Amino acid sequence: MAKKEMVKPLLGIESEIRHYNLQKITVGILGTGDFARSLAARLVCSGYGVIVGSRYPKRNGSLFPSTVEVTSQREAIDKVNIIFVAVHSEHYSTLSELRDGLTRKIVVDVSNNLEVNEREESNAERLASLFPESTVVKGFNVISAWALQSGARDGNKQVMICSDSQEARCMVIEIARNMGFIPVDVGLLSSAREIENLPLRLFPSWKIPVILAVVLFVLFYLYTFIRKVVHPYVMKGQNTFYKIPIDVVNAALPCVSFVMLSLVYLPGVLAAIFQLRNGTKYKRFPHWLDQWLQQRKQLGLLSFLCAALHAVYSLCLPMRRSTRYQLLNEASAWVRGDKKNAWVEEEVWRIEIYLFFGILAIGVLSLLAVTSLPSVANSLNWREFSFIQ
Ligand SMILES: NC(=O)c1ccc[n+]([C@@H]2O[C@H](COP(=O)([O-])OP(=O)(O)OC[C@H]3O[C@@H](n4cnc5c(N)ncnc54)[C@H](OP(=O)(O)O)[C@@H]3O)[C@@H](O)[C@H]2O)c1
Repeated sequence: MAKKEMVKPLLGIESEIRHYNLQKITVGILGTGDFARSLAARLVCSGYGVIVGSRYPKRNGSLFPSTVEVTSQREAIDKVNIIFVAVHSEHYSTLSELRDGLTRKIVVDVSNNLEVNEREESNAERLASLFPESTVVKGFNVISAWALQSGARDGNKQVMICSDSQEARCMVIEIARNMGFIPVDVGLLSSAREIENLPLRLFPSWKIPVILAVVLFVLFYLYTFIRKVVHPYVMKGQNTFYKIPIDVVNAALPCVSFVMLSLVYLPGVLAAIFQLRNGTKYKRFPHWLDQWLQQRKQLGLLSFLCAALHAVYSLCLPMRRSTRYQLLNEASAWVRGDKKNAWVEEEVWRIEIYLFFGILAIGVLSLLAVTSLPSVANSLNWREFSFIQ
């Protein structure tokens, strides 16, 4: 994204618009779909005049607030200098007859794709080649029609904006800000492809940590299953298959939690070793270590999830029927054996200390998890954060 700024020659209208109070200008929208309706309502609430261009203005006019003028596409673009294109990108070619009307105007592309890197060229760049005399700005695609309607109170407030013209970018940034969003300037129009991919991403930084947690869980589960269920069955003929859903899972969870927690701190140690070996901190780490360092938060949160599940499972252990039957059997065996005191001092201390460390561990892990939340982490200075870590 940090490419050399190739400012597109100004087409004249930017300097014209600069004289207006942006809160009072009228902007155009092409399309009358979900996005166009939400955008129009939001713009009106933010103090802008709105003209909508539709292929069927008579039919779709009633879908908009009464202050919004709904007219033909041609008439709409003739009356404004900034036009949002709320039309799916596959229909862009049908807009080509509006080319002359859009000359020297700012055209905002809000479109998204159905797949990551769907085409070689971004939709915004395609629109720019379709309208070479217009200034294309990419933006608002990361905001849903719903978020536009609810007025930036819900969901993501950040709006990524890019364009080859710095002034056009600034104008759209100003509009986004006035609408209550947080605009983020991401530079030239070549960044549009990246912006178009953003809404299609599904937790990219969680993929490897989640796979790792699942693999570890399966391995520990299998080990515990063989140890606690298969081994007693084969060696002594004991049927302990009832342990599969709770006991075995509960034994595997803390093991996964510990390994994941060690994976949070291990890359820091490896990074220090690399720096000592290189004799400098101004040398890049290998790619795998870089990736690993960036995923420490996810690894830590998954470790916390396993520990929290282990705590819940452990609390539920006495509720099980099997535990009650075991207790009754032991009690009746004691009565039959005329045993006066079932107290075993060593066992008592072992369990007390075991629970003490368990509670302490989950408390400390909770603290680490809470401080990794952005809102909490942002309120700490670097020293405080390092102290807690
Ligand atoms: N919906 C969202 O939450 C959302 C979020 C972010 C971005 N976007 C983007 O916003 C754009 C519009 O999305 P939408 O959900 O509003 O879609 P939509 O409900 O299907 O509306 C698309 C509009 O495009 C207009 N249009 C113009 N030329 C057309 C043609 N040749 N064929 C079909 N329609 C044509 C139509 O209005 P007329 O019939 O009045 O001309 C139609 O209402 C898309 O590029 C989408 O990726 C949507």
